[in-house]
Amino acid sequence: MCGIVGYLGKKETKEILLDGLRELEYRGYDSAGIAVLENGHFSNFKAVGKLINLEEKTKNFKTDGFAIGIGHTRWATHGKPTELNAHPHLGESSYVVHNGIIENYATLKKELQNSGITFLSQTDTEVIVHQFEKNLKLCKDSFEAFAKTIKELHGAYAILLVTKSNPETIFFAKHGSPMLVGINDEDEKYFASSDTPLIGHCKSVSYFEDGDYGYVTSDEITIFNALDIKKEAKFSALSQNKLLAQKDGFRFFMEKEIYEQSVVISDTLMGRLREDEVVFDELDSTLFDGINEIKLCACGTSYHSAMSASYLFERYSKIKTSLEIASEFRYREPIMTKDTLFVAISQSGETADTLETLKMAKAAGLKTLVICNVDNSSMVRVADAAILTRAGIEKGVASTKAFATQVVVFWMLSLYVAKLKGSLTKMEIAAHISTLREVPSHVKVDDEMHERIKRVSKRYLHGHGFFFIGRDIFYPLALEGALKLKEISYLHAEGYPAGEMKHGPIALADPELFTIALLPKHLHYEKSKSNVEELSARDSTICAISQIPFDKADDFIEITTCESYMLEFFEMMVVVQLLSLEISIRLGNDVDMPRNLAKSVTVE
Ligand code: F6R
Repeated sequence: MCGIVGYLGKKETKEILLDGLRELEYRGYDSAGIAVLENGHFSNFKAVGKLINLEEKTKNFKTDGFAIGIGHTRWATHGKPTELNAHPHLGESSYVVHNGIIENYATLKKELQNSGITFLSQTDTEVIVHQFEKNLKLCKDSFEAFAKTIKELHGAYAILLVTKSNPETIFFAKHGSPMLVGINDEDEKYFASSDTPLIGHCKSVSYFEDGDYGYVTSDEITIFNALDIKKEAKFSALSQNKLLAQKDGFRFFMEKEIYEQSVVISDTLMGRLREDEVVFDELDSTLFDGINEIKLCACGTSYHSAMSASYLFERYSKIKTSLEIASEFRYREPIMTKDTLFVAISQSGETADTLETLKMAKAAGLKTLVICNVDNSSMVRVADAAILTRAGIEKGVASTKAFATQVVVFWMLSLYVAKLKGSLTKMEIAAHISTLREVPSHVKVDDEMHERIKRVSKRYLHGHGFFFIGRDIFYPLALEGALKLKEISYLHAEGYPAGEMKHGPIALADPELFTIALLPKHLHYEKSKSNVEELSARDSTICAISQIPFDKADDFIEITTCESYMLEFFEMMVVVQLLSLEISIRLGNDVDMPRNLAKSVTVE
């Protein structure tokens, strides 16, 4: 998940590139860089950390007349966040920026190294520029060399390349990662990963399709498709409303973020899965030495993902796991032993209670790890180690994609520990990894299903309460579903373990009590079904979510057929998120800014 920008024209190029990167900074902010070619001379700047560091480094630089430039803001996938690993990457006389992953980079790198090329970075991207320059020596011109290079790459990419051999041209290619080109009435061209950086600069834009590649000059845009057939760019007017553009046409940020989950989960997985092992470059392999217990501590939604993790750690990693609500843990004088790894979970990395527990654990001499979405946040700085969830900026106050990526990280971490402890075989881990790879496609929102949820939602706008029920790892998902609903609809909702209803809450059952039942086919189906039948027999209104049709339900939301309960988990997660969203919209609430809430709770 990186952001790229490009500009060709007579305006001050550095400012245009930096403005564009500012709009894309949410896509990655562990390093950034620009390369500008003016009068045959390249200027290149890179900085680790937030964009402000790059702004500082470039403050005495500006262009004067025609120039071409490319810029990049990075989420590290291959290689740590260092200046050398920051883009643009340099060959002999060309620079490249890239968003995505080059899957065959190791093979290409070896071949290039064997032919005497020295690599400066640990990134997959650097192979692109060296491969291009190798081809430049074999081909009749730069474009032929670029086209040949693109054909040699496997994986996902949005690429911009500039070279001294064609100092008035930007070369581009797109496959799997987003990119568009923008124009106005002047002889200039703009590129970006999304349309927001182009607002105010461009009147119309053209979105590239997968397989497109080509080049632009002041007076030309040449595009070829994946079959090497020349095509016309299709331009459409660019809306100049920034807020609307940031929402990409969705009604609320929360809705956009639900739809984004497929892409951000791919980012979470990127570079971390091998065939039969999970790799976390950011973890020291000794982190789990001498550890006999994992203690998970968080608030709110992050607490729910931590609870999901407790099932995964005990089931797969066979390690004792305990769970703490941060605001409770702080004051209950807990016993902390040094064979415990203390894990704090936080989207923001700033939640006061969670941060304080992390400091307490450190002070007690425990090893600490944070699972967080914001690099350089207070928790990331305090903990011994951090795993970033790579969900991108979450603007909706009700957390969605942050939760999804936290659970994905925990699933990967449980396999990582399982390998260290030998609690799963290589084959079992490989099977999990192939299921993990399927998650992005299972969280993609299906239009028909969304329409169905919109229709169903009209029956759930009142009542004296909601019970979201589930068993095992579907219990934390039930808690999360109930939290989502109450946050944005202001209706009373509780999450409950399905088997617990008969120990009291079932007394509330009547037609005005709404039960949202999570019924996974692949985990305790019969047991959960009996619990729902008990509620149905007492006339509670039932909305069942399952891949198996359920005749006792008043409403049934069918999820896609899948062979793993974890895939059912992610499918159902999307359903409960959308159901809350649609109920809230029908009630006329401000979904993104629910009353009384704040995105980051930095007070006790
Ligand atoms: C609910 C929600 C909150 C947060 C909680 C902790 O949708 O977002 O419950 O999960 O305030 O915040 P972080 O994860 O930033 O520590």
